[in-house]
Amino acid sequence: MSLWQAEAPSNIALIKYMGKTDPQSHLPANASLSYTLDHLVTRVEIEAVDGDHDRWSPLASEEFGALELSAMGQEKFLRFFAQAKKEFGIEGHHLVRSGNNFPSDCGLASSASSFAALTLATYELAKECGGDRQAIDSWTREDLSALSRKGSGSSCRSFFSPWALWRGEGARPLELPLPKLFHQAVVVSSAVKLVSSREAHGRVTSSELFNGRVERAERRLAQLLSALETSNWAEAHELVWSEFWDMQALFETSKPAFGYLSANSLKVIELLREIWVQTKDGPLVTMDAGPNVHLLYRPDQIKLAERIRDELSSFAQVIEAPLGSVPRGSK
Ligand code: PMV
Repeated sequence: MSLWQAEAPSNIALIKYMGKTDPQSHLPANASLSYTLDHLVTRVEIEAVDGDHDRWSPLASEEFGALELSAMGQEKFLRFFAQAKKEFGIEGHHLVRSGNNFPSDCGLASSASSFAALTLATYELAKECGGDRQAIDSWTREDLSALSRKGSGSSCRSFFSPWALWRGEGARPLELPLPKLFHQAVVVSSAVKLVSSREAHGRVTSSELFNGRVERAERRLAQLLSALETSNWAEAHELVWSEFWDMQALFETSKPAFGYLSANSLKVIELLREIWVQTKDGPLVTMDAGPNVHLLYRPDQIKLAERIRDELSSFAQVIEAPLGSVPRGSK
């Protein structure tokens, strides 16, 4: 029995993708910049099966598991799988298994890692069973990123680590003179989102603040790249902070308005603001379309990360990269 498999990480955007110029193929209204979360990984395994349709089932192994996909989620996943198979000229039907190495019920979006892993696993299948093998062999990671975008926009950034810049069709890697950052996801709620990110992309265009959003995001991206290139951490923090509030403001001024922040999200944000006010330093802080807060630390801030984790543990679950993955005290 042949098995084709791949793994891909999740990513967190510092400049957000919010709004599309083409809702069908997920072409973004503005460019976005992300940091890849190498410790939050989806694994996909594909197996050929008899029958007349593709199927999905959860992957259960020691390291990967804990993934539940709604009927709609499964349908979206398999629809993209069919599209990718067509692209590569793959015939027949398959069982697709997927699992995360992080809990699925913790409110962390896993669509980026899931679709990137599905694209990569389908490519493995294509190299053996696809139509034009020569053409398939010439596919680059950028090509795969652009294909993955058609399944889930933000997944196209998961092909590059640690930094990915997505403009137009697909993402590309970005070299920045920064050390590997330490990531914490502060999970305050694992409730299913009432407004999906797909719907959010559409609804934000009804906000008056969407006028000028593309220009704001592009300007902020240029400023953030310059801050990161010159290791101006305080400036980077300010820009990343403004950017996530910009997106939350779009949500709250849409018609009808919606939002994801909870009382505990605000508690986390207040603590982080306090730290920055008092010490003029702290992690980069951002949020996605959800109530949870993402923190990125320089390696010399590990002690601070441990302190923040302890302070938040009474009301939040903190999921973080293994400490050994970041050299302590290095800059
Ligand atoms: O890829 P989607 O359609 O799930 O969009 C997600 C967009 C945000 O996560 C809210 C922001 C981003 O750039 O990742």
